[in-house]
Parts: sequence; C-alpha cells; structure tokens
Amino acid sequence: MDKKVTVVGAGNVGATAAQRLAEKELCDVVLLDIIEGLPQGKALDLAEAAPIEKHDAHPTGSNDYEASANSDIVIITAGIPRKPGMSRDDLLSTNAKIMKNVVQEAAKHSPDAVLIIVSNPLDAMCHVAFNTSGFPKNRVIGMAGVLDSARFRAFIAMELNVSVENTTAFVLGGHGDTMVPLPRYSTVAGIPITELLSKERIDALVKRTANGGAEIVGLLKTGSAFYAPASAAVEMAESILKDKKKILPCAVYLEGEYGYNDLFIGVPVKLGGNGVEQIIEITLTETEKTALDKSAQAVRELKSLLKKLG
Ligand code: NAI
Ligand code: 2OP
Repeated sequence: MDKKVTVVGAGNVGATAAQRLAEKELCDVVLLDIIEGLPQGKALDLAEAAPIEKHDAHPTGSNDYEASANSDIVIITAGIPRKPGMSRDDLLSTNAKIMKNVVQEAAKHSPDAVLIIVSNPLDAMCHVAFNTSGFPKNRVIGMAGVLDSARFRAFIAMELNVSVENTTAFVLGGHGDTMVPLPRYSTVAGIPITELLSKERIDALVKRTANGGAEIVGLLKTGSAFYAPASAAVEMAESILKDKKKILPCAVYLEGEYGYNDLFIGVPVKLGGNGVEQIIEITLTETEKTALDKSAQAVRELKSLLKKLG
C-alpha cells in the first residue's frame, strides 16, 4: 500500500491497533517489539487472517528498526501498563527510559514520520518523545482525549439509550484523574447533554469517565484497557493518513494557547496530512478553566519529576 505505519510495542494496545489498521486497509503495517518472536508471530497471524478479512496491509513483525524505515506514522505503545493499585504516574521512570530508546530509533529510521504517543503517563511521555526526536511540534501527538471522549460518549449513550453514533463529547486536559470532561460541548444529535440530563446524572457520567481507565484495570486485574485505546489511536492515524482534517482532542505542545507554555496537554486540534494542522481554542467558563489549570499543573509536576530523573 502507499502508506506505512509502524506500531512499536506488540502488546495489547499495539497488536489491536495493528489489527484495526490492517482491517481498515489504511496502510502497510509493521509491528515492532523487544521480545523476540512476539511481533513476528502476531504479524504472521494477522497476515493469515488477511484473506478472510480481505485486506492487503502486508502485516510484518520485527525486533529491528530497519523494518520500520520510512514510516508515515509511528504509533508508540511500548512500555509497561498499570496493574491494580498503580496510577499512570507510577509508570513514569520505567516508561520514560523505554520511550527515549524507542523514539531515538524510530526517529532515526523515519525522520519524516508523525509520532502518535500512547504509553503512559501520556502527557509526560509526549514531552520525552518531543525532546528526544527533535521533531517539530505538529509531528508529536499524544493519544488520550479521543479515548476519554469515547468513554464519555459510550456512557452518555448507555444513560439515554441512544445510538453511540448520535453522541459527541469533548474531554480535555491531561490523561489522569484531573482530566476535564466538558458536558457543555458534549451532545446527542447536536443537543447539549445539559438539556437532556440532570446535573447529578451528568456529574456521575463525568466521574465515571475520569475513572474510566481504573474501572477497566480493576476488572481485568492483569493490565489495562486496549480495545478502545487502539481504536482511538487508529482514528487519529486515519485522519492523518487520509488527510481528513478531523477535529479531535489530542495531547499537543502548547506555546501560549489556552494560556499554557511549553506544555503537552489535551485540547481540540485538527489532524491532517501534516499532523497537527490547527489548535482550536474554545471558550471555557471560569469553572472549566480552573479545572483545566489544575490538570495542567498535574502535567507540570510530572514534567519536573522527569527532569529530576534526568
Ligand atoms: P502490554 O504490556 O500489553 O504491551 C507493551 C509492549 O511493549 C510489550 O509487548 C513489551 O514487550 C513492549 N516493550 C517494552 N519495552 C519495549 C521497548 N524498549 N521496545 C519495544 N517494545 C517494548 O501493554 P499495553 O496494554 O499494550 O499498554 C502499553 C502502554 O500504553 C502502557 O504504558 C499503557 O499504560 C499505555 N496506555 C495508554 C493509553 C492512553 O490513553 N494513552 C490507553 C491504554 C494504554
Ligand atoms: C486507560 O485510560 C490505562 O491510560 C489507560 O485505559
């Protein structure tokens, strides 16, 4: 195919993302991991499903970055996931080392790629990827808001017994307990949910959304969510590969937008062939801005922890 995407980390999120990319026939797909045999085995399995799923995405697996050369997009899911009782931030030091190593190799072999970062803690990992790659800010993008918004949408659809297709939602901020779901900008068939649900019910859905990752960890016990995270990363990749210019909430590097500087945080952006093509500044109420400030502060604290780790 004329586009190529490498997914680094052939674990739960990475392998599922590779499957979705292949089945949507968006690009050739390369799976990469440090574990010998894992990416090769999963890619071969995907290739053997191809005649039934009817795609020519040529999935291949490797432990060598040569295989990733000249990718249009590199999706990075390498790292350790959460176990029950762990916060995303507990993953900081291990995943920062992994991210640095992965980005050095990925950037060397695909100097023009867009990096979609998935590993946690997400916003801090975006800083590591941005600093390590030296890529311009439009080509380093974190996946979190699309997932958190999809969770909010799923809960809204369940609550109102309507099609998920009728729902839109926006969750901004860092990918942590301080994330900021925005009910005013969340709708069913264009109707703001503030017109359809009581404040108590909205508060409950907002709380469930902010706790969405932990809810899955609590159920799975051995790892964290992967179906919805993979779908979210692939929606971002698709918008870039097809130059669709979708508006999606993504973690991007801000230089003054929303009043934040030198900070990755989730805001609405336009994703197209050049990666982040526009950062969209929406009006926030005082309460919403205070919540976003709190979330930005949580990301800054992780950023300074990263600095201490060196
Ligand atoms: P997993 O454990 O199933 O897979 C991680 C894979 O990374 C493993 O196969 C491992 O061998 C590989 N890996 C580790 N070090 C590597 C290296 N140096 N180079 C290449 N591969 C390496 O974990 P899962 O569930 O796929 O999660 C991956 C990451 O994504 C975690 O950090 C998790 O917290 C994060 N995540 C983030 C989400 C978000 O919204 N941003 C949502 C879901 C997961
Ligand atoms: C999630 O939100 C663990 O960040 C991951 O599911």
